[in-house]
Amino acid sequence: MTGFHSERLLGKVVVVTGAARGQGAAEAEALTREGARVIATDVAEAPGCRRLDVTSEKDWAQLAAELREAYGQVHGLVNNAGVTWRARIDDVRAEDMARVHAVNVTGPLLGIQHLAPLMRPGSSIVNVGSSAALTGHYPVAYTASKWALRGLSRTAAMELGPRGIRVNIIHPGFIETDMTASAAPAFREANVRETPLGRTGTVDEITPLVTFLLSDEASFITGAEIPVDGGLTAHGGAKPISDALRPDA
Ligand code: NAI
Repeated sequence: MTGFHSERLLGKVVVVTGAARGQGAAEAEALTREGARVIATDVAEAPGCRRLDVTSEKDWAQLAAELREAYGQVHGLVNNAGVTWRARIDDVRAEDMARVHAVNVTGPLLGIQHLAPLMRPGSSIVNVGSSAALTGHYPVAYTASKWALRGLSRTAAMELGPRGIRVNIIHPGFIETDMTASAAPAFREANVRETPLGRTGTVDEITPLVTFLLSDEASFITGAEIPVDGGLTAHGGAKPISDALRPDA
């Protein structure tokens, strides 16, 4: 996407995880357009992406050492990498829980632990949660991991606040990416039905919020949880009731 940009992130060094595709790739592009020096990382290979498995302490330590050498500091981290696992509570195995937790929770923790020491006051961390983190969504390993990420975000906001580092979490609803492309058609239909805006979202509807939270415009915003979900989670189950009682229903 081209068009107006204000270079709100000029000169900032920002790391994005899971940037080979989907939201992470869009974020890396958008942040670059805003003037950031983006280090796009992923466990998968992709042009312009540096290899980093978020679950690997060694990978994080190596990246931190390289960034210290190259820039002396880091201004932003987007903990975007994530995996889903659609087993229900009767079928999910302990190893599924552990694997999903490792990527979705321990990954962001390791990122924070290794990069926060390179962050000066004014730096910003954005964690990517999910509408699953606000609800009892059925893929239990994924849901539990994203709820845990909320806890990590709040603790990190409190612990890093005195160092001037902000930590926020965003909660995307159904966004069109490879992750959701693998879901059953009924999953999409139910999501659209329960979303007040009546449609799915795009990666370009996520990136402006990530840009804002990394920018100095968000200088007093930390510990916040912001849904980007077309209203999916706000009604808390009231939409089907409202829909059923509409005069034209
Ligand atoms: P995606 O599946 O298209 O992209 C995820 C990326 O993360 C992939 O490039 C993958 O290689 C990478 N990744 C997976 N494991 C990794 C690891 N161990 N280390 C480094 N990178 C790893 O998914 P999408 O939709 O772009 O998801 C981005 C984030 O948004 C995830 O955290 C996801 O849980 C979250 N999310 C997505 C929603 C959606 O509707 N697409 C809804 C709510 C949250």
